[in-house]
Amino acid sequence: MTDSNLVVIVLAAGAGTRMKSAKPKILHSLAGVPLVGHVLATARALEPAQVIAVVRHERDRVVGVISELMPEITIVDQDEIPGTGRAVEVALAALPADFAGEVVIVSGDVPMLDADTLAQLIAEHRAAAAGATLLSAILEDATGYGRVVRSADGLLEGIVEHKDATDLQREITEVNSGTYVFSVAPLREQLALVGTQNSQNEKYLTDVVALIRGAGLAVAAMPASAPWIVAGINDRVQLSEAAQRMNALIIRGHQMNGVTVHDPASTWIDLSVSIGEDVELLPGTQLLGATSIERDAIIGPDTTLLDTEVRQGATIKRTDATLAVIGAWATVGPFAYLRPNTVLEADGKIGTFVETKNSTIGKGSKVPHLSYIGDTTVGEQSNVGAGTITANYDGVNKNKTVVGSHVRTGSHNVFVAPVRIGDGAYTGAGTVVRKDVPAGALAINVAPQRNMEGWVEANRAGTAAAKAAAETN
Ligand code: UD1
Ligand code: CA
Repeated sequence: MTDSNLVVIVLAAGAGTRMKSAKPKILHSLAGVPLVGHVLATARALEPAQVIAVVRHERDRVVGVISELMPEITIVDQDEIPGTGRAVEVALAALPADFAGEVVIVSGDVPMLDADTLAQLIAEHRAAAAGATLLSAILEDATGYGRVVRSADGLLEGIVEHKDATDLQREITEVNSGTYVFSVAPLREQLALVGTQNSQNEKYLTDVVALIRGAGLAVAAMPASAPWIVAGINDRVQLSEAAQRMNALIIRGHQMNGVTVHDPASTWIDLSVSIGEDVELLPGTQLLGATSIERDAIIGPDTTLLDTEVRQGATIKRTDATLAVIGAWATVGPFAYLRPNTVLEADGKIGTFVETKNSTIGKGSKVPHLSYIGDTTVGEQSNVGAGTITANYDGVNKNKTVVGSHVRTGSHNVFVAPVRIGDGAYTGAGTVVRKDVPAGALAINVAPQRNMEGWVEANRAGTAAAKAAAETN
């Protein structure tokens, strides 16, 4: 149910310079979702009346991603006045004038923050009828963070930014996570009084905490249950730490749902992946994007599946697949490369050193060894011989190969598309199939073999081959 007293502001205007990237920081991916996408999902889970994102750096690119992830979001542009306080101020201007509830503020670069922690922060804020409640964390190394300054009796006095802190204040290990709940009236009122007189010449949101307290309202800081929950991603070291942490959480979730993961450290699973019970994931498996795995499948080792559907009981070994569908009890690999629009139907096989693209291999049909199959359909229960290449590209157009059901093609064939091989047909080894093969026919086009007796002894006298031949003859 929508909480009509709640609004969430997502701060996403900063440049993220420490990432050293052409891509805006909050668009970097974590478990297949942009950093800001995690924050938006958490915001949505609170069911607020409105979510507002404040943007400025790489504005259009950021807005494109944000609006696709959350079409109902309100976008607000920060002006040239810098700082988190200014970002909140422009967001507040976009709120209905009669809004009298609470404002939750989160940063686009804090992806691990969960909705339960925020709900607890909101509950504490409401229970204390506070003006401001912020989420803090106790860190071993607090360098760079704003510090939570408390009085001798432990009450929150205010926040001081690292760059503005005294040596004594820098020894404080409780830091501001940048996540807050404010009651909107005192936030509006006191934010108007915040200036930019600090070491960064920015309008700090953090300054508002002491001002609200000075106005006689309660302010409090609630420490998060673990520091990683509020970790901000500022550089690529922190990005990989968060990725590892989130991956461990995702894997744990699948394990609790009945998936065997042999080596969690070398297994990477995106947030969007679904996996059925009794699936086994062997070391070095990456399951990405919209991949789904049905029950009893065995994936890996060393397998990457992107946007791929795997049906019940399939086995996929040392394989790279994108946008493929692998049928029930089918087998793939080792060393297979399934490119987009490969469909392997139930009980089928794509074997070793086989590349497929835009092709359907029918029920029970097999392409077991050393082949390239592109723009092809194979019917049911057919076997494509070892080393078969579909010559699907004539330099201008991509052409189709159609292989029927119960077909047996010989080793080392070339199917020069467009070409059709009828049901129940055979082809001989080494055939270059340029013409359609009627149902039930055997196609052969290699020249008859000639054996020139004694050729080696006559032409390669004295070699080991000639001696071996002489001994036999
Ligand atoms: C901020 C806090 C600090 C806290 C830390 C936690 C302030 C002044 N400091 O510092 O107390 O310990 O977060 O991670 O708030 N942003 C804008 N507009 C701006 C500047 C920033 O929208 O003009 C956004 C950024 O995109 C980011 C968030 O605000 O999502 C925080 O900004 P950042 O520059 O990372 O602040 P910190 O220096 O980390
Ligand atoms: Ca930050």
